[in-house]
Amino acid sequence: MVGCRKDPTMYDGPIATPYHLVLPAWVHDSIGPMPMNEALTVEGVELGRKLFYETALSDDGTMSCATCHKQEDGFSDIRRFSVGTDGSVGNRNAMAIVNLGWSNNLFWDGRRNSLEGQAHDPVTNPIEMRNTWPVVAERLRAIPGYFERFTAAFGSPEIDSTRVTRAIAQFERTLVSFNSPFDRYWYGGDTNAIDPSAKRGLAIFRARGNCSRCHTLGNFTDDHVRNNGLDLMPEDPGLGEVTNLPTDFGKFKTTTLRNIAVTPPYMHDGRFSNLLAVVQFYSSHTAHNSPNIDTVMHHFPTTGNAFTWDEQMDLISFLGSLTDETFLTNPAFAAP
Ligand code: HEC
Ligand code: HEC
Repeated sequence: MVGCRKDPTMYDGPIATPYHLVLPAWVHDSIGPMPMNEALTVEGVELGRKLFYETALSDDGTMSCATCHKQEDGFSDIRRFSVGTDGSVGNRNAMAIVNLGWSNNLFWDGRRNSLEGQAHDPVTNPIEMRNTWPVVAERLRAIPGYFERFTAAFGSPEIDSTRVTRAIAQFERTLVSFNSPFDRYWYGGDTNAIDPSAKRGLAIFRARGNCSRCHTLGNFTDDHVRNNGLDLMPEDPGLGEVTNLPTDFGKFKTTTLRNIAVTPPYMHDGRFSNLLAVVQFYSSHTAHNSPNIDTVMHHFPTTGNAFTWDEQMDLISFLGSLTDETFLTNPAFAAP
């Protein structure tokens, strides 16, 4: 391999250690293997974790990714809108980071197709971290330990935006959540893992409620960008702003429902502060004449309620059974 080296004087560090992502056996059949842009390594994941919690990424050194994506809140922001380092307020809710290794549509409007690409944006976003990549790289070079960490992860000490985002994406791929009471019941065969109300809710979710037609069992998302009829006239164009196609107007990502009970508020603009409001929206308030409404939404009622009060409670119990305490408290995901 010596002949392939571009620069023979360049220091070649140690070969990084392969990272074995442990997934339950059923995941392979139900969801499929996690697509990888590069092999995960122990050193790459560890560097990514450090960078995820690194405040030097923001202009004034006060904000890290974790400021808006908190582990105990399923790596989401429970504020309706996140606030940038200069106090500016955005117009979308920060979504959860869970099982995103399978996602090809990142952000509410699906404008990024990889975790690596996504991680570029918050750093330079003028209402988020408000920084530039050359400044980030310069700062990281000045912090003791980073040269060694980049060398361990990537074989040489260069620090740039590509490597920072590659490392963060490696860490994000390890943020997998498959140990909720629902998982123990459905995939693990533990009949007592969820209560009768959650079981009734699951039945509605899968059949009459039509929920699983978009929030597909497994990751509880089909990773598509759709219009679920929130508004007759959507204020935020969603995917339409990205593609400029009228047929994409008002379409947003079907987000995962894993850990949904701990990631309020809900929808792209955080308009619903609790799950009761979400369930009541689907029960009776869907805007059927919204442009580009998804055809699945035609099964939702135009008048009256799809779900009785008791059924609404059952759906909420079921959604609560998707909370994975081991994910929310896993020390491997916490600030290093
Ligand atoms: C100021 C708050 C804030 C910071 C800091 C921030 N984010 Fe976000 N994040 C958001 C918001 C808001 C969205 C949704 C924005 C949108 O859809 O337009 C989002 C979306 C995401 C998504 C998309 C999830 C999905 O399901 O598609 C990922 C992944 C993500 N952020 C990772 C990161 C990473 C990595 C960092 C650090 C480099 C970071 N975020 C920093 C607020 C923030
Ligand atoms: C046509 C596809 C579709 C169907 C059917 C559907 N959803 Fe959704 N769901 C979406 C989309 C798309 C979003 C995000 C919409 C937005 O924010 O603009 C969403 C958002 C949500 C959210 C909020 C997620 C978050 O992170 O804020 C919850 C909770 C939810 N749906 C539950 C359900 C339940 C329960 C049902 C069945 C009663 C259901 N959904 C049926 C597509 C669907």
